[in-house]
Amino acid sequence: MALDPLAIRLDDTVAVVTGAAQGIGAATAVALARFGADVAICDRNAAGLKETEAAIRDTGRRAFALELDVRDGAAVAGFLADARNELGPLGVLVNNAGGGFWAPFLDVRPRGQAALIEENFGSVTHVVRHGVPLMTDGGSIINVTSVEAFRAAPGFAVYAAMKAAVEQLSRSLALELSERRIRVNCVAPDAIPTPGDAELAFPHLDADPNQPSDHVLLGPPTKPPLNPQALVLHNPHPQDKELWAILLTSSDGLKAMAPNGH
Ligand SMILES: NC(=O)c1ccc[n+]([C@@H]2O[C@H](COP(=O)([O-])OP(=O)(O)OC[C@H]3O[C@@H](n4cnc5c(N)ncnc54)[C@H](O)[C@@H]3O)[C@@H](O)[C@H]2O)c1
Repeated sequence: MALDPLAIRLDDTVAVVTGAAQGIGAATAVALARFGADVAICDRNAAGLKETEAAIRDTGRRAFALELDVRDGAAVAGFLADARNELGPLGVLVNNAGGGFWAPFLDVRPRGQAALIEENFGSVTHVVRHGVPLMTDGGSIINVTSVEAFRAAPGFAVYAAMKAAVEQLSRSLALELSERRIRVNCVAPDAIPTPGDAELAFPHLDADPNQPSDHVLLGPPTKPPLNPQALVLHNPHPQDKELWAILLTSSDGLKAMAPNGH
């Protein structure tokens, strides 16, 4: 069921989306704007960022965009402060930037491991640490994790462990930030066809295309539908049901899904 933007308005809300140059982040940023939010976006891909910025403005909402690497805490702090100055107090933080590469764990060198940790966990802590002081009470933090946070992910062990770490971090933050009524939730997608997903290599699948589905990682040859069971909410609030659906809305084929999965 596609959601009607008129039914859920985010007017007067400022949302921040990391990794918004393409894929889930771009779709999320534009969807939030379509629902009435002004949106601050960042990414290390300047060209894609410009496209998303233009798409946000096309909805009639304000946009603020900055090229940066979310692993750089000082850059993230500057971006969030500028976003606050340009658009106003922050209401929603979407930690979407992340990713990884396929490699058996024993082939991952310390440098690669450090990059995966910063990319998928450090980036979230930077945004939360520097973003929460700029947030309105009653705001919402949404961390995009993965089904790999909950199941074995051979070839993506460190990535999966960091997504699980974000899930656990979110539980603690949900309680710590409850005094300010800031909600902290995770959205844990199954395979979603995005540019980043397409770039991943799956040699084991080439070897055995009939591999059972519980061995399938981010990008099986045949994409399964979005899995509503993958949604994990801590201290859920009614608005979150709408927001996660917005999160999974895309202009290029992803469908907004009702909370009951129909
Ligand atoms: N696509 C899937 O199947 C899938 C499944 C589960 C979870 N996820 C998660 O969803 C999120 C988005 O994935 P996607 O498939 O849209 O990926 P994508 O690669 O298509 O897009 C990710 C965007 O984030 C940006 N980005 C990545 N690292 C960055 C960094 N260090 N600094 C700044 N920008 C950075 C990239 O430039 C890109 O624009 C990720 O956290 C990913 O782990 C995706």
